[in-house]
Amino acid sequence: MHPLSQSKVPVIDLPNLEDLTPVSSEEGLFSLERAHKRYLQQSLTYTDDGRLLDEQGKAVMMEWEKPIMQQQARTVASTRGDILNVGFGMGYIDTFIHNKHAPRTHWIIECHPDVQRKMIQDGWLKLPHVRCIFAKWQDVIDYLPQFDGIYFDTWEESIFPFMEKLPNILRKDGVFSFFNNPTIEDLKNNQFIPTSYLEVLNKIGMEAFVESYDISQLVPDRESQGRVYWDPSHTNYYNPICKFK
Ligand SMILES: C[S@@+](CC[C@H](N)C(=O)[O-])C[C@H]1O[C@@H](n2cnc3c(N)ncnc32)[C@H](O)[C@@H]1O
Repeated sequence: MHPLSQSKVPVIDLPNLEDLTPVSSEEGLFSLERAHKRYLQQSLTYTDDGRLLDEQGKAVMMEWEKPIMQQQARTVASTRGDILNVGFGMGYIDTFIHNKHAPRTHWIIECHPDVQRKMIQDGWLKLPHVRCIFAKWQDVIDYLPQFDGIYFDTWEESIFPFMEKLPNILRKDGVFSFFNNPTIEDLKNNQFIPTSYLEVLNKIGMEAFVESYDISQLVPDRESQGRVYWDPSHTNYYNPICKFK
């Protein structure tokens, strides 16, 4: 896949943040917290057809995203510096970071016991420059050093509290990226990253760029996803590249 375009996401004309309803109300965060707790209590299954499923058959991660992870690994790890990935899942992005970009240090935070078991089985703990942290990022973020590249892709929780911590853990010239899944409405309005994400990025002094990729050959059907997390009519992926202004 080749980048079709690299364009600056418009972040300038945002309304005054003080005037906005908070993007995550306490109620919203509370129900997400419950969903995350339930997620952690479930057994996960790695299937032979390339999916990581929860007990309800919802896909937490799927193989079709592998080429996307390849691009996202390039975005956050091409400096070959100190790289952090939050959420191991099927290990696609970590494998690309490790195999293609040889970072100085490569940190992985993962909280689900079944995923942690898979990481142990696959030998991630034995790699000398890899530091696996088996915890929720919420419990360790205040103890982390600074990184040159950070990728975030977790499950059943809000990204915003993580973003708020970025000024503490991302170097001034570092790059941040995340799994980007704008709604059809966002895309209709030429918002390639959800507005609520841009608001938080703007608040912490970051600007966002996107690279667009044609993924029409990759998108999964609704059934294989268990619960639709990727609208099959989205045939472009907008890879976010976020930097401090
Ligand atoms: C969608 S998968 C990540 C897929 C990954 N990008 C890949 O390339 O395979 C999400 C992962 O985040 C983990 N996760 C969810 N919440 C987390 C948290 N609060 N802290 C650390 N890991 C978390 C899940 O257990 C799961 O392994």
